[in-house]
Amino acid sequence: TKTYLTGIQTSGMPHLGNYVGAIKPALEAAESNDTLYFLADYHALNSVKDPEKLRHDVRSVAATWLACGLDPERTLLYRQSAIPEVFELATILSSVTAKGLMNRAHAYKAARDRNAEAGVEDLDAGVNMGLFNYPVLMAADILVMAADVVPVGRDQRQHIEYTADIAGSFNHIYGSSYAFPIPRGAYPEGEGSMLPGIDGRKMSKSYDNHIPLFLPAGRLKKLVRRIPTDSTPVEAPKDPDSSAVFQLLSHFADEERTAAARKRLEQGGMGWGELKNELFEVLDATFGPMRERYDALMEPGSELDGILADGAARARERARATLARVRSAIGIA
Ligand code: TYM
Repeated sequence: TKTYLTGIQTSGMPHLGNYVGAIKPALEAAESNDTLYFLADYHALNSVKDPEKLRHDVRSVAATWLACGLDPERTLLYRQSAIPEVFELATILSSVTAKGLMNRAHAYKAARDRNAEAGVEDLDAGVNMGLFNYPVLMAADILVMAADVVPVGRDQRQHIEYTADIAGSFNHIYGSSYAFPIPRGAYPEGEGSMLPGIDGRKMSKSYDNHIPLFLPAGRLKKLVRRIPTDSTPVEAPKDPDSSAVFQLLSHFADEERTAAARKRLEQGGMGWGELKNELFEVLDATFGPMRERYDALMEPGSELDGILADGAARARERARATLARVRSAIGIA
């Protein structure tokens, strides 16, 4: 068996993209592997500056994992912040990480590009060190648990490659005493595996185009209606593959239903409005039952807090064991 690990930032209720890119594949892997899934609350701190919101979002992401079927007997579910070894390892890894590597990180470069486009003279304006160090902390999350496989969406590919690079630098220097296993990413299959949001761009909280997993049916319906479509008349043939609505449908409907919708769109006779109704029905049928469990877990005093405490205690043992070896390898102990 392999050790699988993945994390989700605690910056709001997880959305359909998080489900397809991480939650679903991670829960499938949990059936036959060692699994550690965590809440990246210190990663979220870069963007969430409201303490009440952060507290709420930590519970929300935990409740989502459980509502989607995570079995806490089988999978360790914990908060990143409950494992101090992560932060010690991040400091150690900083000393073997080239700054140039961080300069080339996508999220950091995107922030600089935005400044350039807006004509801001200081390209680093608004960039905090948390954003700059983000990939090092992520490498620590993964390496502290000596994970082999990291199920994530394709947008995380660079982060996984950086983790492998950083582990390689450490191993190159200290490998005769301790070497990290080099982790690999496991990405959903297919070109369209990054889910589009309601504006057609990649679904992302930072674009505010996301569909949260457990909306009440009325609000879910409204969001689905907002997905832009062109004005091709109902009877005219349409290209399913250029439609965000169809892409979303194909991720959640079974093959038969997806194929039937494709055919009717291509032949003409199915309007975008009808396709949106199908998408709403499929989403509501998939997530409606989980939504009830989610709501119960979000109640104060639910079993959620105990599950997180237990997961943290067990995950921490593993982190402590890694740190003991690392400290000894580097000459700190
Ligand atoms: P985060 O919180 O942005 O996203 C969580 C997971 O959801 C995937 N994802 C998507 N997949 C398909 N389509 C989309 N539109 C979409 N949007 C998001 C992401 O790829 C991710 O797998 N850096 C990570 C959190 C993290 C982490 C880690 C992950 C911190 N430490 C260690 C793995 C291992 C992030 O920001 O994910």
